[in-house]
Amino acid sequence: MKHFGLAAVSVLAMAASVAAAPMQMPESVTMSTQQFSDYTPKKGPVTFNHASHMDVSCVTCHHTVPDTYTFQGCMSEGCHDNIATRTDENSVYRAFHTGQDKRSCVACHRDIKKQGLGDAPLACNSCHIKE
Ligand code: HEC
Ligand code: HEC
Ligand code: HEC
Repeated sequence: MKHFGLAAVSVLAMAASVAAAPMQMPESVTMSTQQFSDYTPKKGPVTFNHASHMDVSCVTCHHTVPDTYTFQGCMSEGCHDNIATRTDENSVYRAFHTGQDKRSCVACHRDIKKQGLGDAPLACNSCHIKE
């Protein structure tokens, strides 16, 4: 069947062009825990905009880049992929809300506010927009 042969060729061509493409920084990303199939999110998804964060260096957040040379999603497998606890090193909740680590959304926002450097959101529903 010729039809399928052609489809396979164009998929290969696409894969090649993706591999060669320069890195694209998304303007905004909607983050949610929908990838965890057995988990029902308690809060709405969060929209992250790079534009609001251009005073922060890439590696502050993308802290694996110096080792892997790739920008990975925070909740990728083997990273912050534990939805069951709030305390473990790989806990999803901890990655975004922990008080100590300035790479977490909430810890940095609290710090910005404390230093009077800006008005980054801290209220649950200013990040988690209700659907
Ligand atoms: C304040 C934190 C922060 C800073 C600073 C930041 N990013 Fe991001 N970036 C994120 C978050 C959060 C995501 C979404 C990750 C996810 O989907 O889990 C993201 C996603 C990305 C992605 C897509 C990754 C993927 O999943 O395919 C790329 C590429 C990227 N950022 C590049 C950059 C570059 C380049 C810089 C510096 C100019 C930068 N980022 C600065 C937080 C940040
Ligand atoms: C290292 C510091 C830092 C980290 C980490 C950080 N932010 Fe921010 N965030 C800021 C600053 C600075 C602003 C801008 C404050 C202002 O404009 O006064 C901001 C603003 C925002 C805003 C309001 C503006 C907008 O784009 O709607 C949202 C929402 C936001 N951040 C979400 C996040 C999320 C989600 C994460 C984690 C994935 C995160 N931030 C991580 C520093 C940080
Ligand atoms: C600065 C942004 C920000 C603030 C403020 C924030 N969160 Fe989150 N939270 C996130 C991000 C990013 C995630 C991961 C993506 C997602 O699940 O939406 C997350 C995930 C979660 C999760 C796991 C997923 C779920 O929906 O069940 C819970 C629970 C949660 N947050 C509760 C809260 C509560 C409660 C507050 C207020 C005390 C809060 N968050 C404040 C950014 C924030």
